[in-house]
Amino acid sequence: MRKKIIYSIALIYCAISCKTTELKVNKSGLITQHAMVVSARVEASKIGNDILKKGGNAFDAMVATELALAVAYPYAGNLGGGGFMVYRKANGDIGAIDYREKAPLAATKDMYLDESGLVIPNKSTLGAMAVGVPGTIAGVFEVHEKLGSLPIEVILRPVIELAYKGVVVTEKQEKRIKKYQPLFPKANKTPIVFDKVWKTHDTIKYPALAKTLERILKYGRDEFYKGKTAHTLARFIQQNGGIITTEDLAKYEAKWRTPITFTYDDLKIISMSPPASGGICLAQIMGMIEHYPLHRYGHNSQKAIQLITEAERRAYADRSFYLGDPDFVDIPINKLIDNNYLKSRMADFTFKEATLSTQVSHGDVQIIESDETTHYSIVDPFGNAIAATTTLNGAYGSKLYCSELGFFLNNEMDDFSSKTGAPNMFGLIGAEANSIVPEKRMLSSMTPTIVEKDNKLYMTLGTPGGSTIITSVLQTILNVHEFNMTMQEAVNAPRFHHQWLPDEIKVEPKAFNKSTINKLESLGYSIREEESVIIGKVDGILVLDDNRYEGGADYRGDDTAVGF
Ligand code: GLY
Repeated sequence: MRKKIIYSIALIYCAISCKTTELKVNKSGLITQHAMVVSARVEASKIGNDILKKGGNAFDAMVATELALAVAYPYAGNLGGGGFMVYRKANGDIGAIDYREKAPLAATKDMYLDESGLVIPNKSTLGAMAVGVPGTIAGVFEVHEKLGSLPIEVILRPVIELAYKGVVVTEKQEKRIKKYQPLFPKANKTPIVFDKVWKTHDTIKYPALAKTLERILKYGRDEFYKGKTAHTLARFIQQNGGIITTEDLAKYEAKWRTPITFTYDDLKIISMSPPASGGICLAQIMGMIEHYPLHRYGHNSQKAIQLITEAERRAYADRSFYLGDPDFVDIPINKLIDNNYLKSRMADFTFKEATLSTQVSHGDVQIIESDETTHYSIVDPFGNAIAATTTLNGAYGSKLYCSELGFFLNNEMDDFSSKTGAPNMFGLIGAEANSIVPEKRMLSSMTPTIVEKDNKLYMTLGTPGGSTIITSVLQTILNVHEFNMTMQEAVNAPRFHHQWLPDEIKVEPKAFNKSTINKLESLGYSIREEESVIIGKVDGILVLDDNRYEGGADYRGDDTAVGF
């Protein structure tokens, strides 16, 4: 209640003084009684929701939504990529699955370097050499086998129908296709469906993808990894200069992981463990800010931005030095999220001036954001919840599109460190922990997260956004918990981001109080505010006091909540 009053006062103050703030007061998202799916496209949310209406559980709906996104949102939804999912069952059991891509068997540490040891431009981002062994089909089938309840036929049939029927192009999609069209001929030897000029309201049909899905329905998960699809895919990648073989596909397995769990006030946070960095980073940042009265500082106030920035700076400094695939590197997880360690990390923090990133060890990581990747959240009528984030890495992945199978291939190999000290497409300057090794998984920022309050489900959320994924999830949780926003307000609220290097606070344009920005600059913070920059596209679901669900679907994309 105290927080609520303080937040209301802050809102009134803001309404008077923060003319540029776009926070939408009292706006709530879709509210439903029983169940909900929130994803990047209405078609995918509807298909997931229909599965729930048919009596399926959140895991059945996950399979349907994930594959529907592969049809409706080829920008990031995929068969040719991978992802992570965190779940909480109605009985409180938690778990996570890692269906992240892997380095092929023929991969080598220096595969993206020339004879002089320099990184070869575009080799890890564009075309067949950039492709990691895809994990999505293994992931969804593993989830279905362990936790699903409906027959796979019931789940896949509507997705196949959507692929045959086609998907209507939205305004945002038209812009995205146009933006990346110049790159498609660079990655593909023959024209692809996305080379055409697609306009808003046009319908793109995906018959090849429908046929691939039909074969997967008929022969199961192994069709993708050992069947005709596997042979076609390996041949296609090799014909285009890549190194993935049928053996790589046959060896791929999704892995069940133990999620990262930690508390913040009366919340228990359940988030993704390595090879995703999200859970550990989130635990570090929240552990560093927990002991400060954030709600008293006010939402997006100078002091709140300062505190969160300084915690982010320190967490991101640790991120790439320590983190990588846990099957290949020892990660000191307990040390990294230990309260005393986190307190000691903030020992030199003062509100009087900015800490310089050059004074903060560790690692040599520099990260540049991207808004590719996609996230969806689901709660079912039985009380199960999932948070899943899936990706091709870059927009339309490597841009290599297998027309025979009907999908893009990822460029996830770029998430490895190609060379210590050289930045990848996101500006990551890698450490040894994330070097390329055959069959290793590359480090990710994905942060699918579930929050409990009083031992009950409270929230499920996540977002795309490269390195900004972690800080967007953080701010959305804080917006609800510290600043008493609705789920939709929490998603809508303007976001900022700091990641140690570059040493700057990135803010969404025209959304922050000018005097706050001036004050931060006078304390030594460098602020980057650029036109058209968005930080994350958060999709989440909040459990309300009366046990109904409120969806937060990010207006920054075409994201939509559907439920009943
Ligand atoms: N490819 C983006 C990520 O995994 O974080």
